[in-house]
Amino acid sequence: MKATPITDFGAKTKSLAQSLLDTMYDAQGIGLAANQVGIVKKMAVMDCSRGETKPDPYILVNPEIVRSFDIENEEEEGCLSFPSHFAKISRPVAVDIRFQDTDGTWHEEHFNGIKSRCAQHEIDHLNGTLFIDHCSLIKRRIIVQKMTRLNSLKG
Ligand code: NI
Repeated sequence: MKATPITDFGAKTKSLAQSLLDTMYDAQGIGLAANQVGIVKKMAVMDCSRGETKPDPYILVNPEIVRSFDIENEEEEGCLSFPSHFAKISRPVAVDIRFQDTDGTWHEEHFNGIKSRCAQHEIDHLNGTLFIDHCSLIKRRIIVQKMTRLNSLKG
């Protein structure tokens, strides 16, 4: 589902940001979009440091890609909504992202490497695109079959 823009920059938005970060760290993910946890608001968090360097948390409110590099690369990608499923996805190697912080101030930042990939993945979530939408038809069919089987096991 496509997320709706955030217009309120009060305590609610700040606590949503904090609980998204907590949930992401608990799940040991590097990114999480609000609509993945059922909140259809345009907010995503990410931290690509993976505990290897000092924490590098980002709160992206109403993020959008303003520039994409022409060069793409293909990397294995996962998603907290599809545990243990990975797929090779081609994306621009670098992007410029415009986003607000929880006070409503606009920022523009250049992302490359894993941060670029992660930000694009989270913005896809907010736009209602799942990472499997980028997969080949066959790969997508396999993932959907596995998810259906998992869900039927859960009853
Ligand atoms: Ni995801």
